[in-house]
Amino acid sequence: MPNLERIEDVMWQLSQKQYLADRSLATAIFLCLKLERPLFLEGEPGVGKTAVAQAMAQVLNVPLIRLQCYEGIDRESALYEWNYPKQLLAIRLYESSSEHSRALNQESLYQAEFLLKRPLFEALMPEGPAPVLLIDEIDRSDDEFEAFLLEILSEFQISIPELGTIRAQEKPFIVLTSNRTRDVHDALKRRCIYHWLDYPSFGRELEIVELKVPGLDQQLRRDVVQLVQRLRQEPLDKKPGVAEALDWAHALEALMTERLSPEVFADTLGVLLKDREDINRVQEGNLIAQMIKELESDDPTVS
Ligand SMILES: Nc1ncnc2c1ncn2[C@@H]1O[C@H](COP(=O)(O)OP(=O)(O)OP(=O)(O)O)[C@@H](O)[C@H]1O
Ligand SMILES: [Mg+2]
Repeated sequence: MPNLERIEDVMWQLSQKQYLADRSLATAIFLCLKLERPLFLEGEPGVGKTAVAQAMAQVLNVPLIRLQCYEGIDRESALYEWNYPKQLLAIRLYESSSEHSRALNQESLYQAEFLLKRPLFEALMPEGPAPVLLIDEIDRSDDEFEAFLLEILSEFQISIPELGTIRAQEKPFIVLTSNRTRDVHDALKRRCIYHWLDYPSFGRELEIVELKVPGLDQQLRRDVVQLVQRLRQEPLDKKPGVAEALDWAHALEALMTERLSPEVFADTLGVLLKDREDINRVQEGNLIAQMIKELESDDPTVS
C-alpha cells in the first residue's frame, strides 16, 4: 500500500500515474479511502472521470474492474448468472453414467462452480487483492438498477438466493461516474462522497496537455488550451472536454502544424466539436478568425 496519509500524498501518487488532481478532488479521494466510502464523480463529458478510477487502480496497484452501465442493464449482467449450458451438461453426464456416484439434485446444480461471475461479483469476491471498482456512467442505467446497487454500496455485500449473503472481506475502492444526463437518486448519492469534476483551469489544462502530449511546441500548446477554454465560453451543446483538448494536441502534432491559423482551426474543428449545429455555430460569422486574433493579441511575443 503506497503512502496516502495526507491529501498531498494522494495528489502526488496520482501525478505519478499521469493524473493531475486538484486539491478538492484529492480531498474527496482521501476521504473515500479513510472512511471506506464510494466516490461519486459527476461532470461534463471528457473531464477525466473515468481516468480517476484508472489512475487509482494504478496507485493502489490493484486490478480495475469496470462495469459499464447502459440502458436496460440488469442484475444478472452486473452480478452473476447461472451457467445453464454447464448445468445441462452436468445433468446429461449424470443421466448417461450408469454409476450415479454422487446424487444430483437442485442444490448441487446451484453451487459456485456453476456461477458465471460478472463485474460486481468479481469486485466483492476477487481472487487477489480488493480491486478498484468503476461503475461507469450510472446515469445510463434505470431506477431499478440504482436501487439494486444500494446494498452493495452501503453494505459491500450481495444476496444470492441460492447461496445466501456474500460479504466482501476487504472493501474495494468504488468509483461511480455520471454525465448527469439524468438525476441520480439521492439515496444512492448519500452513500457516497460526491465530487463535481469541473473543467480544469487554464494552468491546469496546460499541465495536462504538457504531460500527455510532451512533444507539442510550447506556444502551440498554449494556443490549443486557450482556444479550447475560449470555445467552452460559447453556447455550445457539447463543449470540448480535456479529452478533446488532448485529441486536438495530438492531431496538430500529427499534422506537423507550426502555428495555428484560421484555416488549420477550421479544418480540424471536427476533433473538438462532435455536433453539427455546434460546428455550424462556430463556422458562421467571424468566430474562427476572431478567436485566432484574440490569441495573437494575448501573445506577448507578437507586437
Ligand atoms: N486531471 C487530469 N490529468 C490527466 N489526464 C486527464 C485529466 N483530466 C482528464 N484527463 C485525460 O482526459 C481524457 C478524458 O478523460 P476521461 O475519459 O476520464 O473523461 P470522462 O469524464 O470519463 O469522459 P466521459 O464522460 O466522456 O466518459 C483521458 O485521456 C484522461 O487521461
Ligand atoms: Mg468516462
